[in-house]
Formats: sequence, structure tokens, C-alpha cells
Amino acid sequence: MALRDILILPDKRLRLVSEPVKKIDTDVKKLVEDMFETMYDAPGIGLAAIQVGVARRIITMDLSKKDEDKERRVFINPEIVWSSDEKDVHEEGCLSIPEYYEDVERPAQVRVKYLDLHGREHALEASGLLAICLQHEIDHTNGVLFIDHISKLKRDRITKKFSKAAKRAVEG
Ligand code: NI
Repeated sequence: MALRDILILPDKRLRLVSEPVKKIDTDVKKLVEDMFETMYDAPGIGLAAIQVGVARRIITMDLSKKDEDKERRVFINPEIVWSSDEKDVHEEGCLSIPEYYEDVERPAQVRVKYLDLHGREHALEASGLLAICLQHEIDHTNGVLFIDHISKLKRDRITKKFSKAAKRAVEG
């Protein structure tokens, strides 16, 4: 296992649409291991492969609480096949937009199809934090960030802030 660097806004690769995984080979399994290590280290509850610079439709997630056993979830080629009309507002953050949190409105329930690491197909009905996290991470596989769901004013403000920080880092 190895830690990978997490891409930070405004890195253009975060806007790529990721490719479906055709074969779950050792490269994919190694990537998933690295993603878990990187996610736990951050720490975060969800990570999409593009956030470590790999444009493939892979998500890792662990929503267990600190005092609970780890519950590693892997979603390969996840796809939202149904979402509820009922909406829910929840504060979100993102490892690619560190230390920024904002309320986001999304469908309260979703149904998601995906493959596990053995290539088996699953369908999952999700609500609560799992539904939010799945939508947030699946957005990443489509080049969408949670700030795309907030007001333009707020989005422009945070994008400008991160662009300035990136420029300062380059200029040293
Ligand atoms: Ni994110």
C-alpha cells in the first residue's frame, strides 16, 4: 500500500469524466488499497479515484464512527439508477477542497448499481449519509464537485481563494 497525493482545487483533472473499469485486475486492486490508505490518512469518509489522479470510475468509502470497526466499501462503475423527489440538505466537505464546508441539497434517497471487487453486480438503496456520500463521490467520477451545487457567488469566492493559494504555492 502507498499513500497517494490528493488533487486540490483548481486542479483541472478534477473536471475529467472518469472511464469505466473494464477488468478488475491487480492494478485496480492495488489502486483501491492505496485509496483506502490515502482516505484514512487524510482523514476522509469517501474518495474517488480521480482525486488521486486516476480517471477511473472507482470509489472507496467508510462511514463507520471512530469507536466502531472499520467498514470498507468499494464501488466500481457506480451508477445512480433512481433518485427520490424528496430532497435533503446536508453540510458537505471534500478532501480536494480542504477545510471548506457548505450546505448542499440533494435527493434524500438514491438507488445505485455498482460492481464489487470480485466483479459481482449489486444494487443498493441508500438514504441518510450513505446517499449523500454516494452522490458526492459519483459526482467526482463525472467531473462534478460539491461546490457546483451551491450558489455561484459562493462557488466563485471559494474557487478564487484556492486559485490564489495554488498560485502562491507555485511562486514559492
Ligand atoms: Ni469530494
